[in-house]
Amino acid sequence: MTTNRHFLFLNAATREPGITGNTEALARRAAARLSTGTTQSWLRLADWPLPPFVDLRHSAGVYPMPEGAARRLLDATLEATDLVLVSPVYWYSVPASLKLYFDHWSAWMRVPGVDFKARMAGKRLWVVATSGDRAKAEPMLESYRLCAGFMAMHFAGALWGKGGPPGAVDADAQALAEAEQFFIGATHW
Ligand SMILES: Cc1cc2nc3c(=O)[nH]c(=O)nc-3n(C[C@H](O)[C@H](O)[C@H](O)COP(=O)(O)O)c2cc1C
Repeated sequence: MTTNRHFLFLNAATREPGITGNTEALARRAAARLSTGTTQSWLRLADWPLPPFVDLRHSAGVYPMPEGAARRLLDATLEATDLVLVSPVYWYSVPASLKLYFDHWSAWMRVPGVDFKARMAGKRLWVVATSGDRAKAEPMLESYRLCAGFMAMHFAGALWGKGGPPGAVDADAQALAEAEQFFIGATHW
């Protein structure tokens, strides 16, 4: 059965090429349970490096249509119905590549004709995270909840697992069980 849902997994991993981190492993386990017919795409933010964000809000007030990696990420974001942040916790917070991506939303909101904010409203925001312990993920998860609220997106849920060296999350039985259920039913609402 095909659905009209399109899940974009934005992977903020900074592991070396060829090494799958815990966060991606957990996200892929959850993604494997998405119903067939649901479109899935995965982008590793390290493969699409964004330029530094420049705040033009109170000078030019508008931004040109982005090019290169920023345009790729903008288009992928708009095409998705569901945005899944594959987000390890770094320093109790959002990893730098995802933070920069969100900073660019401030630019994309001001590109004439894109209507970014209105088109983001109603999309679902999901988070898959790993860190040393759950409490230390809370500031990051709260940031994402607030971002979703600002954009009138639905914060659809957070899946957390205990990370560490690659493979560590495989020992977190609760996270693995939750991953199996994370997206179940997601395409029915
Ligand atoms: C730069 C950096 C900062 C980190 N900061 C935290 C932290 O603040 N709290 C925490 O519990 N773990 C922290 N960690 C550990 C990672 O969150 C944990 O190892 C996670 O599983 C890594 O995800 P990955 O395996 O998908 O790369 C940090 C790791 C790195 C590399």
